[in-house]
Formats: sequence, structure tokens, C-alpha cells
Amino acid sequence: MKFKGIGIDDVKVHIPNVSLSLTKTYAEAKNQDPKKFSKGLGVKRSTLPDTYEDPATMGANAALKLIEENEGVEPEKIQRIAVATESSWDRSKPISTYIAGMLEDKLGEGCLDQAGKTEHKFACIAGTQALNDTVNELAMEFGEDDYGLVIATDTAWYEKGSSGEPTQGAGAVAMLVTKNPRLVDLSVGRGRMGTDETDFLKPEQQYPNVAGKRSMNVYLVHMKGALDNFQGAIGEKVNPDDLNYTAFHIPFPKMAEKAAPLGFRNLARGTEKEEEIIDQVGEQPSREDYDTAEEFLEAEKEFEKALSKSSTYQDFYERSVKPTLRISRNTGNWYTGSVHLARVSSLLDAKMNGLDDGLMMLGSYGSGAQAEIHAEKIQPGYRDVLRFSIEDMENRIKNTYDLGWSEYQELHDHHNHAKSFSTERFTEPSGEFVFSDIGEMGERLYEYVE
Ligand code: HMG
Repeated sequence: MKFKGIGIDDVKVHIPNVSLSLTKTYAEAKNQDPKKFSKGLGVKRSTLPDTYEDPATMGANAALKLIEENEGVEPEKIQRIAVATESSWDRSKPISTYIAGMLEDKLGEGCLDQAGKTEHKFACIAGTQALNDTVNELAMEFGEDDYGLVIATDTAWYEKGSSGEPTQGAGAVAMLVTKNPRLVDLSVGRGRMGTDETDFLKPEQQYPNVAGKRSMNVYLVHMKGALDNFQGAIGEKVNPDDLNYTAFHIPFPKMAEKAAPLGFRNLARGTEKEEEIIDQVGEQPSREDYDTAEEFLEAEKEFEKALSKSSTYQDFYERSVKPTLRISRNTGNWYTGSVHLARVSSLLDAKMNGLDDGLMMLGSYGSGAQAEIHAEKIQPGYRDVLRFSIEDMENRIKNTYDLGWSEYQELHDHHNHAKSFSTERFTEPSGEFVFSDIGEMGERLYEYVE
């Protein structure tokens, strides 16, 4: 497989300061079985923004850590600040300008003047698109020691009482993009599938119109299409055994668990694994054997259910898929950041298990709809770059303020653009950028709290 020699050199994650337990607080308030969340959706907690946090502060906080902890990075050499978000509030001024403004307050006035600043929108896949564009620009136009800064930041709020409410979440992932990257190198070629779909959209509104169940099918159809195109696009056969990690976009972990058998089946085609599958679950259904498309679909579902339980698939799942979901089980959907958080979860698992290097496949998805599959080579030496552990991430989530039910209601109203609601903050900010006010032209104002 060919790689670009360009990719992610370092990464930092910003987890916001409050959270809601789905298995305790939400389940109790709604009188629902906690297992509906922990098992049915695979998620136990949603991280959420306190009153003074928003997508710009979260993105800036992640990016500041990234720059400050990489002493060699001169801000003047950052040639692009590409921010992916679907939680922006301005139709003209991109969120990257706010983030650059905050960073300059700390790093020096004017130090990011020369950086091209963009805002990327295509639902959750925009994070991957921002990364692709930055990598390609770096390849075409930048010098050997230039950088790109890619930030995926979102507050995934759904209407109160809607079925999407338990899949909320918020957080940011900031990625430093360079030539000769120290964390992961990106594959040349990617499998894609995109169509004009109306599964999830926000026409002039803050909360999404979402066709919940249908959106899950649309996700799977597009992921399958992208998988079918992937091996042709990279010009090589990839065996499931080649992959140390297989990460899919995580609106909630169970969704990625539904996509993973599709990936396994696709990659197993024509390999020894296919023989094992036939031995354990029989032949895959074939369209010619069924009178209607519905009957075929039903047979496919049954086959996938049996496959998911087979030992050959379970080995793959435990090793390659489960570790990608570990962090998201306690954060919820970070929209544009979700698949990038899955990469972090994978790399931290690799570090914990002493892996020297490896191969990862990522499936990104954005409603509306597009899916994209690419591969990444984990670089030797990545362990020295990741200066945090999976336990650090989990402790940080444990230390977020655990909202009570009425507090959660107030916070949801506080962040509702249609309400002029204000509530006291739940936590005291420290060493971070915060939202402070709205200016005379309606612009948002920020400051750094030591
Ligand atoms: P729901 O009403 O909670 O669905 O909506 P449900 O009642 O069918 O329950 C969900 C699962 O929990 C089911 O499992 C139940 O069986 C199980 P499944 O049949 O699917 O395998 N369950 C239980 N399990 C154990 N113990 C129990 C129990 N009770 C039930 N006691 C839905 C779920 C996802 C539709 C809803 O939360 C929603 O609308 N979410 C938002 C949309 C979404 O996330 N869609 C995903 C695909 S689209 C996407 O990924 C793009 C997105 O990220 C946006 C973007 O791109 O920008 C969303």
C-alpha cells in the first residue's frame, strides 16, 4: 500500500467540563432501563459544555495544548488552520478566525496572520475532509518544516425529549499535520460513496431534523459502498488480519459495531477468513437466490447476526474494533471529532499493549450523506509522541462535573440559541479559553482564564 509521507504528527483532545450520566441520571429521569444505553446504544455518559464553553473555546483549548507541548512548532510556520464543525453560529465569519484570535492572545499578536483559515461543513465527515484538504495543500505548496492545524470541534445537542438526546456529546480534537509525521501516515487512495440524502439535517436551525432509524440504514449503505470501493482505490488487497485497528464513525458505539461486520465481510472476501466464515456460518446470501430485495435484505441481516457471533469475527472485533470505541463510550457523539477520537483511542490502546507500529483502517461518515474509507500506518516511535494514556483520558472524564437532572435541563436551555436563558456556571475555569460576552456587532468575545 502506498502512503503519502504526510499525516498526523501529534494530537490533543479537549474534553469539556461537565457531563451527564445516561445510565444513572438520564435513565432515572426517563424511567428507562440503564441497559438501553450501556448495551443498546453502547454509551454510558455524554460530555457537555459548561455555560462558558462552546465549539470555539474547545477547539482553541485543544490547539493551544498541541502547540505549547510541541516546543519546536513556531506558530508562524502554521500555514493553514482548518476547522471542521457543524455547530457554528455564523454564516460568514468562520470559527477558525475566533480560534486563531484566541491562540494569538497567548502565542503573540499576528503570529498566525499568514495561516489560511477555513471552516469545513459536511456533517460529521467534515473533520476528515478538513484533514484531507490540509494534507493535500501541504503536499502541493508547503515547505518541509511547515505545519497544518486541523481541528474537529462540535457540541452535539439534540432537542430535549427527542430520541437523539441520549446520543449527545461535545468535545474537540486538534491535529498537527506535517510531512514525515510521527503518529500516522495516510494512505494514497480512499474508497468513497456519497448520495443526496435527507437522513439528518439542520435547515436554518440549531437542532437536527433526524430520521433516527433510517439514518442508521443510510450510514450502513454508504459505509458498505465506500468499503466496496476501498481496495480498488488503494490498488491492493487488505486482509482483516492486516489491520491492528478498524475504526468507524461513532454516533454511538453500537452503530460502529453494526458497521464492523460489513468491513470484516468485505475484507475477508477471497481470503482464508472467508473459508472460516463459511465453516462457521455458511455461505453469504446471494441476491439471485431471493425473489425480492426485501427478502434478500432480511437474509443479509440474519447472516450478519450469525457472523457477529462467530469466533472468527469475535477475534477480529475484540482485537481490532473494540479498542476504537473505548473513549466514546463515556463521551457520546462528537460529530466531526468522533472518528478522530476513535483514532486516539486506538493509538492509546496500541501504546498500552506495547505495539511497535501497525495498520489502521478508518471509516468516516457524514449525514447528507457520504462515507469514506482510508488506511493509516502507525509510525514507529508514536509512543514517545503520545504523552498521555487511556487512563488519563478516563480520569479526566471522571473528573468532569456530574450534572443532576434539573441542572442538565438548565444547561440545555442555556445553550439553546432560541432562548435568552442564563444559568450559573457549574465549574470554575482554570488554564483555558472561555466565552465571555457578545460584542456590539454580535461577535463572540473570549478571554483566557489563568
Ligand atoms: P431509539 O428510539 O433509542 O431506538 O433510537 P431503540 O428503542 O430501537 O433502541 C436502540 C437499541 O437499544 C436497539 O438495539 C434496542 O434493541 C436496544 P438494535 O435493535 O438497534 O440493535 N435496547 C436495549 N438493549 C438492552 N437492554 C434494553 C434495551 N432497550 C432497547 N433494555 C436512535 C435510537 C439511534 C435512532 C436515536 O438515538 C437517534 O435518533 N439518534 C440520532 C441519530 C443517529 O445517531 N443516527 C446514527 C446514524 S447517522 C450518523 O451517524 C450521523 C450523525 O453523527 C450526524 C452527522 O453526520 O453529522 C448522527
